[in-house]
Amino acid sequence: MGIAAHPCPFPSGKLLINNRWVDAESGKTFATLNPATGREFARVAEAGSADVDRAVAAARSAFEMGPWRRCSGVDRGKLLYRLADLIDEHAEELTYLDALDAGKPIAESRAVDLPLAVACYRYFAGWADKIQGQVIPISGSYFCYLVHEPIGVVGAIIPWNFPLLMQAWKIAPALAAGNTIVLKPAEQTPLSALRVGEFVIEADIPRGVVNVVTGFGPVAGDALARHMDVDKVAFTGSTETGRLVMQAAALSNLKRVTLELGGKSPNIVFADADLDQAVEGAHLGLFFNQGQCCTAGSRVFVEDKCYDEFVERSVARARARVIGDPCDPRTGHGPLIDQAQLEAVMAYIDAGKRDGAALLCGGERVAQEGCFVAPTVFANVSDEMTIAREEIFGPVMSIIRFKGVNELIERANATRYGLAAAVWTRDIGKAHRVASSVRAGTVWINCYDVFSPAAPFGGFKQSGIGRELGQNGLQQYTETKTVTIRV
Ligand code: NAI
Ligand code: MG
Repeated sequence: MGIAAHPCPFPSGKLLINNRWVDAESGKTFATLNPATGREFARVAEAGSADVDRAVAAARSAFEMGPWRRCSGVDRGKLLYRLADLIDEHAEELTYLDALDAGKPIAESRAVDLPLAVACYRYFAGWADKIQGQVIPISGSYFCYLVHEPIGVVGAIIPWNFPLLMQAWKIAPALAAGNTIVLKPAEQTPLSALRVGEFVIEADIPRGVVNVVTGFGPVAGDALARHMDVDKVAFTGSTETGRLVMQAAALSNLKRVTLELGGKSPNIVFADADLDQAVEGAHLGLFFNQGQCCTAGSRVFVEDKCYDEFVERSVARARARVIGDPCDPRTGHGPLIDQAQLEAVMAYIDAGKRDGAALLCGGERVAQEGCFVAPTVFANVSDEMTIAREEIFGPVMSIIRFKGVNELIERANATRYGLAAAVWTRDIGKAHRVASSVRAGTVWINCYDVFSPAAPFGGFKQSGIGRELGQNGLQQYTETKTVTIRV
């Protein structure tokens, strides 16, 4: 494949605390790798709990004192619009950083990550001066009203699969509502968060309002989750780590918790669907970002009557996927994030073979170097197989056969997850029936992975707690205060 070893285009290695770039107290740094080569291309500061303390103290004092405290909603909106503009103006550089750091195909981040991130900052910028209270009629001679106040210091812990977008999903609503934030990016993908940190300074966002600490989950992430002076933790990542974060919150100061976790989303294709659209939708719904998506449609349920044709077309579509250097705009399929993810995905492929599913394409690594796994399609998958039950987080499609709609709904819901679902059919009644019966936070009908900053997103069951985006998402960054006056 021949992938050039790009140098890091940008000096990293510091933490952003109080709008100043500082070393970790220990002086330690760690390497971030380029997943396409498996080699180091930048070093970043390794925050320990003392650094998290410093960042939280900066966020606390910005929240309690300083200009942020007096900043009106209109002014918070202006600052967020300015940040959005800076990110937009540096779109090429940022997508390039994520391509190098996350192995994310640049064509995808140009089309999806970057525009959605910018849209998210602008959407919440628009909310900043529209967070309104209510007057509540109560009995007696009283005037009772509600106000929605910021929660305080937010700790945000984000994953590596959508670095720029996950920053936006946390920073934008937190700031719109008047909170301050300490962001811990994933250890695999810290660079774009550091670059956005430079834009925070350039946008004149007051010091201490946004702090960025790079470091490892069990150290810096854990310190944030159990910090006594953090008022809310917003986490996106695996269900297992989400459980630890919630536990740390419970055992420390009962900080507010929102969790966006894993999924095993059913993507349901009825025989009366537009099959071209369904094949393409199932393909993108699974292989987008090499399958490293919480919403990945990793259980493709296909009606008996069109099963064979659907399988044949899906295999042809997967074979046509262009594998290559993430920095090459023709590339559709890049590497997995790291060696550990590669090994986990290969183990799932072995489990699929062992359990007797039919491996129709892929199933192997692509190059000697880097973390590439070929687009893989299994047919004749049954519900109890490991690949039909566990979140794989890789380019592995499992196609499962179904006959009637009743059995289908029961089987689609037989999972501990409930993040998303999709249904492909020309029958509007059937579509609504599935949409109302499936236990998932998002349902797509004849489409997949359609996101908007205005539309709430989050999980039922073990896929999470709370919602992000939209007005519901904003509410998760405020406390409601009830004020009652005798008149
Ligand atoms: P992870 O959930 O452990 O990592 C996500 C974030 O949590 C990172 O910033 C990490 O540093 C932090 N973290 C890790 N341990 C922590 C702790 N004890 N306390 C506080 N923060 C902590 O996910 P990881 O290990 O990168 O990937 C493992 C699996 O998780 C993947 O194979 C995939 O199945 C799933 N995953 C799901 C994501 C989603 O969007 N739903 C995103 C990333 C991973
Ligand atoms: Mg990296």
